[in-house]
Amino acid sequence: MTQDDLKALVGRAVLDHIPDGAVVGVGTGSTVNQFIDALATRKDRIAGAVSSSEASTARLRSHGIRVLETQDVASIPVYIDGADEIDPRGHMIKGGGAALTREKIVADLAERFICICDESKRVAVLGAFPLPVEVVPLAVPRLIRRFAALGGQASVRPGVTTDNGQCVLDVRGLTITDPLALEAEISLWPGVLTVGIFARHRASLCLLGTPGGVVTLD
Ligand code: 5RP
Repeated sequence: MTQDDLKALVGRAVLDHIPDGAVVGVGTGSTVNQFIDALATRKDRIAGAVSSSEASTARLRSHGIRVLETQDVASIPVYIDGADEIDPRGHMIKGGGAALTREKIVADLAERFICICDESKRVAVLGAFPLPVEVVPLAVPRLIRRFAALGGQASVRPGVTTDNGQCVLDVRGLTITDPLALEAEISLWPGVLTVGIFARHRASLCLLGTPGGVVTLD
């Protein structure tokens, strides 16, 4: 099985976790694209979707799935998204697709976060994947120095402007042993819009695609 096969597997499997009549929170990325394609087969059983990116919105609409404005929705039962890394407690690194701010906003509306990913994303400790941080450009030099003081090497992701008109730093060299504390700390730094540690908004459930089938971690 290829990595794409595993993504398709979990993209379909997660349909069983979507209540009929729900407004569904939809993340961003190649695994979520598989989920959106699967969701299209039962679009008449949901009330609509709230999307975390322009890319996911376009894909949802191309299937005729109704997309609601995030600001018009008070809460949703479930948010489905991928991850760049996930640890045994459901803490994640996200933002490889630069959609982390809206992903966190939609995750915050959700009663449950279900992570869908292939087994390559499972790690013991977060940090091998460069940590994405969406930032205001004029704060970049200061933030690079702040990350250096933590032992991280931060660089601006070339050619990327987010859906919010900001830029993304990728931070290499961090070993994130306390994701909750590091998320809280970085979130306080002036110029940081969103840090790609999802610890406060960790996964309630993870469907992991493996060659042997879907493994459910909770
Ligand atoms: C986008 C994300 C994605 O969920 C993450 O990058 C995983 O993507 P993929 O499913 O393509 O591996 O956080 O900002």
